[in-house]
Amino acid sequence: MEGIGVFDSGVGGLTVLKALRKALPGEFFYYLGDTARVPYGTKSGETVVKYAMQNAKFLVSVGIKYLVVACNTASSYALDVLRKELSIPVIGVIRPGAEEAVPVTRGKIGVIGTRSTILSGSYLREIKKIRPDVEVFQKATPLFVPLAEEGMFYHPITLSVAEMYLAEMRDRKVDTLILGCTHYPLLKKAISEVMGSDVRLVDSAESIARHIKEYLKITNNLSNSSGGVKYFVTDSPESFKRVGEMFMGEEIEDIELIDIR
Ligand code: DGL
Repeated sequence: MEGIGVFDSGVGGLTVLKALRKALPGEFFYYLGDTARVPYGTKSGETVVKYAMQNAKFLVSVGIKYLVVACNTASSYALDVLRKELSIPVIGVIRPGAEEAVPVTRGKIGVIGTRSTILSGSYLREIKKIRPDVEVFQKATPLFVPLAEEGMFYHPITLSVAEMYLAEMRDRKVDTLILGCTHYPLLKKAISEVMGSDVRLVDSAESIARHIKEYLKITNNLSNSSGGVKYFVTDSPESFKRVGEMFMGEEIEDIELIDIR
């Protein structure tokens, strides 16, 4: 069955998959979590591009009509290469995130993500392409990833880590904050409490879903089946299932262990 391919370094991209499933209930999804090589957020651009390419090729071999790079780090480094090498449309999370943030900001956008995402400057570039006069403040906030994976979505430790990372952005009067990592939407409540309720938190999942729907409609490729998901992981289906079910808020079945190296 021709479906929509989604890959991430691991379990985090399930936050994107969840939004996609909601917006496109008639589609079948193939989700690949590269759990053997996670995290990507500490690795070099070169390595991330290599992994992304292998993931994409695997999903293409399964049979997909559209590819979603749900991982912010992979989107930051590999999108151009993937678009050049593949013959299907590829969407990442960076441009849609910038497109969500720019129209709503009063002039100061914060970006948080993994070290590699922040180092790449990908969000900064996309925001400036749309509106050069916006001020952009970037910060790597890597501890948010394990906190989310431990299910500590709204926990005193998460709140104090958020305070440590975000106080500076709050003091600089950032009015819109891009959650530039797959895991961060799960910590929305804690992040919002630290930033203040008037600060807009942006993630790109819904914007991505809109882009894909539009494309599939125009190209007459929208599916009306009953939908579904098949999962692939490169390590331990058991731990993917445990953390993944917490991320998705539903049972995860049909997980296949694969080797893509
Ligand atoms: N999925 C990654 C991202 O969105 C976070 C986890 C990792 O470092 O691999 O950047």
